Amino acid sequence: MSAFEAVKISQNVYWVGAIDWSLRNFHGYATTRGTTYNAYLIMGAEPILIDTVKAPFYHEMMERIASVVAPEKIRYIVSNHAELDHSGSLPQTINAIKPEKIFASKAGVQALKDHFHFTDEITEVKDGAELILGDMKLKFLETKMLHWPDSMFTYCVNDKILFSQDGFGMHLATTDLFVEQNDFGVVSYEAAKYFANILLPYSSFVTRLIEKLPALNLDLQIIAPDHGPLWRGEKIQWIMDSWKRWAKQDYYAKAVIAYDTMWGSTATMASAIADGLMSENISVKVMNLTNTSRSDVITEMLDAGAFLVGSPTLNQEIFPTVADNLCYIRGLKPKNFVGQVFSSYGWGGEAQNILTNELQKIGVELVGDGIKIKYVPTNEALARCRDLGIQVAQALKNKI
Ligand code: FEO
Repeated sequence: MSAFEAVKISQNVYWVGAIDWSLRNFHGYATTRGTTYNAYLIMGAEPILIDTVKAPFYHEMMERIASVVAPEKIRYIVSNHAELDHSGSLPQTINAIKPEKIFASKAGVQALKDHFHFTDEITEVKDGAELILGDMKLKFLETKMLHWPDSMFTYCVNDKILFSQDGFGMHLATTDLFVEQNDFGVVSYEAAKYFANILLPYSSFVTRLIEKLPALNLDLQIIAPDHGPLWRGEKIQWIMDSWKRWAKQDYYAKAVIAYDTMWGSTATMASAIADGLMSENISVKVMNLTNTSRSDVITEMLDAGAFLVGSPTLNQEIFPTVADNLCYIRGLKPKNFVGQVFSSYGWGGEAQNILTNELQKIGVELVGDGIKIKYVPTNEALARCRDLGIQVAQALKNKI
């Protein structure tokens, strides 16, 4: 008996992935609840492996496979996505299995060659292609930029499962393989966090996918992503609707105030601005960037319509934590925000202009004037901060 066994998820399909309980950083994204690398084994007459796992988890995957079938009996591997969290074990797996064929999208063939300098032939499958492998029928769907240019989905016609690699995934280490077996508050936050931190810059591709899927008339019994739990039943519609909404990035009656502070002045200003927003019935998240991850800030921005940022001046610059967050947020290309900046300073006061430029680069529509306070805000200055919150709230309400 091995330490790891496969889990049957449908008539012919087994989950043979790995659980990474310890992962806390996925290329800059704070994965506070770990993750899973899901691989799937289709046990038809000619077994098929869908994706592999991150390299350190190779043995866990192979043990799970071996609990169902001798690995060398696997005839085909489908690589839906070349990023190393899914392909890291591929060279070792190919060596062990010696599959007859490996399938990937056109860009996937090139990406796998560029990563591993394979001499093995990889077979390209085109968007919409269908393959009969033994008694199993697979359909392929190109999903470029979700999350890399090579990404594709594979649909197993027999078991009505859509293997969606990063699509509809989340970073959540869990032994409960289906979404409805998990705390839905946790699942819904982690799904939003994954979208905000991974898919947000590719929202236009998401919108096209969500429009295209119904036209394909796929009977979706299970959506099986490569990270986190699997979707089935009514939860399939929930994740489709959520992706559609997140990709649209409407204005919502919520504000995110992100700031850091040196001796408390910028923090006091943030609280006064928040009170102004709150008085106009806008929900507010005030996030101190010393103890908040950039990944949570962008997640909160996903259903917000106002973004305000504050920083003291430090050595003629903004605080490093604020710079870090603004760089990360800009890269993820959030849209549709009103907002403003606020800062405190002792002499130079350069932070104000730097913050203003940064918000303009992100595309935030600035409301009224930003507020810059010398040393410690007076009650009159805090009243102006509160008034700024009210102005931003009113501008936001005009957008909704
Ligand atoms: Fe889970 Fe884009 O890799």
